[in-house]
Amino acid sequence: MEALPPEPNPLREGLRLPRAPEPNAMVIFGATGDLARHRLIPALYDLYAAGFLPRGFSAVGFARRPLGDEGFRAQSREMCQRYCELQFAPEVWESFAEGLCYVQADLAEREGYDRLGERLVALDRERGTLGNRIYYLATPPDLYPVITRLLGDARLAQSERGWVRLVVEKPFGHDLASARELNRLLREVFREEQIYRIDHYLGKETVQNILVLRFANAILEPLWNRRYVDHVQIAVAEAVGVEGRGAYYDRTGALRDMVQNHMFQLLSLMAMEPPASFQADMVRNEKVQVLHALRLPRVDEVPRIAVRGQYAAGYIDGRPVPAYREEPAVAPDSLTETFVALKLFVDNWRWADVPFYLRTGKRLPRRVSEIAVQFRRPPLRLFGPEVPVPAEPNALVLRIQPDEGVSLHVVVKVPGMAFDVRPVSMAFLYGPTFGRGPSAYERLLLDCMLGDSTLFTRGDEVEAAWEFTTQILRGWEAASPPAFPNYEAGTWGPLAAVRLIADDGRRWRRL
Ligand code: BG6
Repeated sequence: MEALPPEPNPLREGLRLPRAPEPNAMVIFGATGDLARHRLIPALYDLYAAGFLPRGFSAVGFARRPLGDEGFRAQSREMCQRYCELQFAPEVWESFAEGLCYVQADLAEREGYDRLGERLVALDRERGTLGNRIYYLATPPDLYPVITRLLGDARLAQSERGWVRLVVEKPFGHDLASARELNRLLREVFREEQIYRIDHYLGKETVQNILVLRFANAILEPLWNRRYVDHVQIAVAEAVGVEGRGAYYDRTGALRDMVQNHMFQLLSLMAMEPPASFQADMVRNEKVQVLHALRLPRVDEVPRIAVRGQYAAGYIDGRPVPAYREEPAVAPDSLTETFVALKLFVDNWRWADVPFYLRTGKRLPRRVSEIAVQFRRPPLRLFGPEVPVPAEPNALVLRIQPDEGVSLHVVVKVPGMAFDVRPVSMAFLYGPTFGRGPSAYERLLLDCMLGDSTLFTRGDEVEAAWEFTTQILRGWEAASPPAFPNYEAGTWGPLAAVRLIADDGRRWRRL
C-alpha cells in the first residue's frame, strides 16, 4: 500500500497542544542516577525545545551527591547533548538551564525535605510555579516507602495553592503482596488521583495507536472476537543482554521485568472492551477488566502454560556474547529466567477459548516488538487440493518497534496462466508517513503535567497484573528447577517454547 504524502508534523509543535500545562516544579529524586540522566532530563529538554513546557517550569535535582546548582546543570547539559532527540541548541539550553537547580540530601533523612520545601517555595516566588509540584521517584524502589513517608512528614504531599503529583517508576513491587503493601503506603500519604505509576510502553506512539486503530475504524470491531480471531501473539524480543544491570535483573527475571507490566499493558489494550469515553478512568476500568478475566492456572498447571528460558553463550550479529550466568553481578548458578513464553486465556464473552501467546526474551536474534491478530482460515478449500493456500492466510500485525507500522496480510493470485496463490502484505509505516514523534518519556512527562492519567497504571491494575504473575511464580517455585541455560544467545528461545504453541497446531510468527 502506498503511503500518502507526508503532512506537516503537528507532533512537535507545542502551540497546537489543546491544553498547555500549568507552571510547575518537578523534583527528581535520584537525579544523578541513570534514569534521570539518560532519559528524564533529555526528555524535559526536548519538551522545552519543542515549546511544550510552561513558562517558569523548573526541575529540581534531589540526590545525595554533592553537586550544587552549577554541577547539576553541567551534568544535565552533557546528558542533553548526548541523549536529546532534537538538535541540541546552546541558546535553547541556556534558557532551559535557568530552571534547573539542585538540593543535596540524604533521601532517607527528614532534614533534606525541609530544605527542599524551602527551595520549592522560593521557586514559586522567583519562577512563578504556583505551588504545583511533581515528585518523580527515579531511585531504587526500596527507597519509595521512606521517600513517600518523609514527603508526608514534611507536609510536601499537599500544596496550599496548587496540585501535587507523585510519579512512581517500575518495578512496582515484586509480587502481589509487596505491590499491595506499596499501594497501601503510598495511599497513606497521597490520594490515588495523585499517583502516576509509569510504564514507559504506554508512552510509545504505536502502543497508543492500538486504541485508535481499534476504536476509530469501525471495520475492525466486528472481527475483533472469538468468531473471527484464531489466536493473538504478542512478542517483545530484545537482542541486548542485561546491560550492566545484572544485580537488578538477577533478582527480577523476565516475567517481572517485562510481562507483568509492559506485555500485560499490550494485552489489555488489545483485548479490552470499548470504553464509554476516552476519559482516564473509563479506559483504565476496561483495561483492568481484561486482567481480572485472565484464567488463573492452578499451581501444578503452570509448567504447561508458562515456559522459562535462560541464555547460554552464543552469537548476536556474528559477535560472540557471554552466557547469562557469566554476566557481571549474576550468580554463576542463577535460576533467573531471561526468556518467557506464555499461553493465556481471557475468559470473557469476547475472547473465550482464544489463546493469547506471549513471548519475550533477552539475547534473541533481533529487537522486535509486535502484536499479531491471527484470523481464522476460510471454511472451505475452494480452489482444490492442488492450490496450496497458506495455513494462516490473514493476520493484522501491529509493529511496535522498530519500523513502526501496521500491516494486513492477505492472499492473492499470482499473475499468470497457472493458478498460484501467495500471501502479501498491505503495509503502513509510520516513519515515511509522519516522521518521528515524541519519545515515550516526553509524552508521559507532559501528560503528568497536564494531569492526564490515561497512560499511567492505576493501583488496582498493577495488583491485578501481579495476581496472575504471582501465580506463575508460585507454579515455577513448586516445579523442579529448570535445566538452565536452555537456549543459545542469538536464537529464538528454548525448544519448550516452540512446543508450547506447536502442541496446539500453531507456530510462532517469524519476527
Ligand atoms: C525496561 C526493562 O522496563 O524495558 C528492560 O527493565 C528492557 O530490561 C526495557 O530492556 C525495554 O524497553 P524498550 O523501550 O527498549 O522496548
